Amino acid sequence: MLQTAASPSPVVPPVMTGAQPMLAISDLHAAYGQSEVLHGIDINVAPGEIVAVMGRNGMGKSTLMKTLMGIVPTKSGTITVDGTDVTTLKSHTRVAKGLAYVPQGRMIFSTMTVQENIETGLTVTGSRKVPQDLYTMFPVLLEMKGRRGGNLSGGQQQQLAIARALASNPKVLLLDEPTEGIQPSIIREMGRTLKKIRDERGLSIVVSEQVLSFAMDVADRVLVIENGAIVHESLRADIDEAQVARFLSV
Ligand SMILES: Nc1ncnc2c1ncn2[C@@H]1O[C@H](COP(=O)(O)OP(=O)(O)O)[C@@H](O)[C@H]1O
Ligand SMILES: [Mg+2]
Repeated sequence: MLQTAASPSPVVPPVMTGAQPMLAISDLHAAYGQSEVLHGIDINVAPGEIVAVMGRNGMGKSTLMKTLMGIVPTKSGTITVDGTDVTTLKSHTRVAKGLAYVPQGRMIFSTMTVQENIETGLTVTGSRKVPQDLYTMFPVLLEMKGRRGGNLSGGQQQQLAIARALASNPKVLLLDEPTEGIQPSIIREMGRTLKKIRDERGLSIVVSEQVLSFAMDVADRVLVIENGAIVHESLRADIDEAQVARFLSV
């Protein structure tokens, strides 16, 4: 099932051996009505690992993210977070169990202030105050905390969406095409930020992407999704960039 044109890459990469996965996705199927879109996805993400899921438009990246969050129901298969089966749990309970999500298009609340936006991410923590370390991570949000979300630039809104997701203190952070509509210099900065979040908080990150340079910058491992199935997997160190680029070209 895995495509291994140049050199055979192991299905379970070395980084995974021994460690219990922080996120385990097993034979995941999801559908919109009668139309099945995910056809048996298997992904294990190690503690502190950053995995990029790459694929062209319509291949199932957002459906995978939404299914992990319980926005799209799971038809069959299982999702576990740090050993806890979350497959049948409601979205907010999954957040309490350690999943956080930055949706495609960011979806910040444009009429609410920056601070109010971040506060919406606090609900499962029981705390009502935005932790100072979020503002330390994103100083521009501190500067702008009284501004309305809609008045921020695209890059600033993306930082806000990430801060809101981190407010629930997740074990696993999911980001759906975070570079979409963001200018290249800001994309590089976002890559640094994601690695810093991983290094400082030790969380696992799954990021869907179409920009290969960004994935090469942040990810420890790169997967390719096509028509709802994982068709390629390689560690960043072993990647054949030309081969992955072919999956992404139309
Ligand atoms: N709400 C929906 N209802 C029916 N089909 C959908 C819906 N959302 C997405 N799809 C279909 O599911 C497939 C995967 O879409 P999506 O997960 O959005 O892909 P990607 O995020 O990789 O662009 C596409 O064929 C798309 O048309
Ligand atoms: Mg999408």
